[in-house]
Amino acid sequence: MPTPPPNSAEARDVLFHLHSQTNAQAHAERGPLIMERGEGIHVFDSHGRKYVEAMAGLWCTSLGFSHARLKRAAAEAYDRFGFYHTFNHKTPAATIDLAERLVAMGPIPEAQAYFATSGSEATETMVKLAWVYHAVRGKPTKRKVISRDRGFHGSTIVAASMCGLPRMHREFGLPLPGFLHTLCPDPYRGPQPGEDISAFVARLADSLEAMILEEGADTIAAFIAEPINAGGGIIVPPAGYFPAIEAVLRRHDILVLGDEVVCGFGRTGEMWGATTTGMTPDMIAMAKGISSSYFPISAVLLSKPIQDALARMNEGGEIFGHGFTNSGHPVGVAVALETLAVYREMDVVAHTQRMGARLRAGLDAIAARSGIVGQVRGAGLMIGVELVADPATKTAFDPALKAGARFDAAALANGLVIRPMGDTIGLCPPLIIDEAGIDEILSLFDRTLAEVERDLPKSRLAAE
Ligand SMILES: Cc1ncc(COP(=O)(O)O)c(C=O)c1O
Repeated sequence: MPTPPPNSAEARDVLFHLHSQTNAQAHAERGPLIMERGEGIHVFDSHGRKYVEAMAGLWCTSLGFSHARLKRAAAEAYDRFGFYHTFNHKTPAATIDLAERLVAMGPIPEAQAYFATSGSEATETMVKLAWVYHAVRGKPTKRKVISRDRGFHGSTIVAASMCGLPRMHREFGLPLPGFLHTLCPDPYRGPQPGEDISAFVARLADSLEAMILEEGADTIAAFIAEPINAGGGIIVPPAGYFPAIEAVLRRHDILVLGDEVVCGFGRTGEMWGATTTGMTPDMIAMAKGISSSYFPISAVLLSKPIQDALARMNEGGEIFGHGFTNSGHPVGVAVALETLAVYREMDVVAHTQRMGARLRAGLDAIAARSGIVGQVRGAGLMIGVELVADPATKTAFDPALKAGARFDAAALANGLVIRPMGDTIGLCPPLIIDEAGIDEILSLFDRTLAEVERDLPKSRLAAE
């Protein structure tokens, strides 16, 4: 890339702005991609180039990038109230409406809702509530948390500790002590030679139980999982996985925490990822789709036994020492209520099933013609395409070839935004997408894959 003029937006970005999840050196060399505006499922960069945003930003803008009703809901909420909070018995009125609505639609009976502003705050809140739950029941030593390899739960210290991705730990001396990781239920790469899926599931449950016994069940508070792992490569657990591991967890009085930050609100073709995968959590964390990310808002739903424990904690008159300034912010709440109204009117679950089936069928057809697709997987509008050197043997590409990063660059050049996770290409478009939008993704994906496939064999040889 030619060196940008010194006071261009590109040069100022490199100088003044530290980016999330970005290599600083590569950023200094290639500069930013500056996005300026959005229209439905499309975004436009500062040079006026148009892209299909097939990742809904960060798995989040379910209603696209320019939804008039969400903008109006925010503007009207600002007219009424720029801010109010939920500390010390106070609350904005609309926050009560959202709590009631989430409890009515959520997968946990008789739940209560707690509000925060990010997914990380929501997953960490669940950990603190799990600690209280056990302590109040006379089990204060139950503190450890088990999560899974390749999982993602956020970037704050406890949330990052629960991630199962090396980049979330490496430079930070994480995970914290007491944050353990069990096997990832990847049906493509996980089974050992000759092991069928039910034996694989049994091994996952056995290995979880072995970890619990070795650590001591009296030291373990909770297990956290996304119903379908998003950031680790869109991994759908095999049938029977959650029932098998939940049986182990219940046996040892360990809470089940569901991270619905990506999967919630229709993404997987059901309202909740828990329904898609047969998970029965004691608490769930949600964010992103709750407001289509037009305002930072997240929430936790907690079951009745956890509410009862909290009530007992406060029996001496102490207050619940937890809260965020912007918990239940009236503008975020108004945007979330409007988002949920739109989901209901568009019948988001049925629509996602229809559009997801079209995307999946198209990708399956492309994969059948390609020599470098190992697996197409996912649910609803959350689909991963794993690129491999040899689909017959599942042989992965040499990591030095950076097949996923090549696909990313080629896709961007073609006007398609995807998410490479290693060599798995993630697609998670806005849920408002229609047939024409799906076909546009498919055509750009097809072209990109053909280009990458043409390019890679040469590099494959060069690497040998
Ligand atoms: C499954 C999951 N949980 C938690 C988070 C953290 O959310 P946030 O970035 O809002 O803190 C993310 C973010 O991508 C996520 O994908």
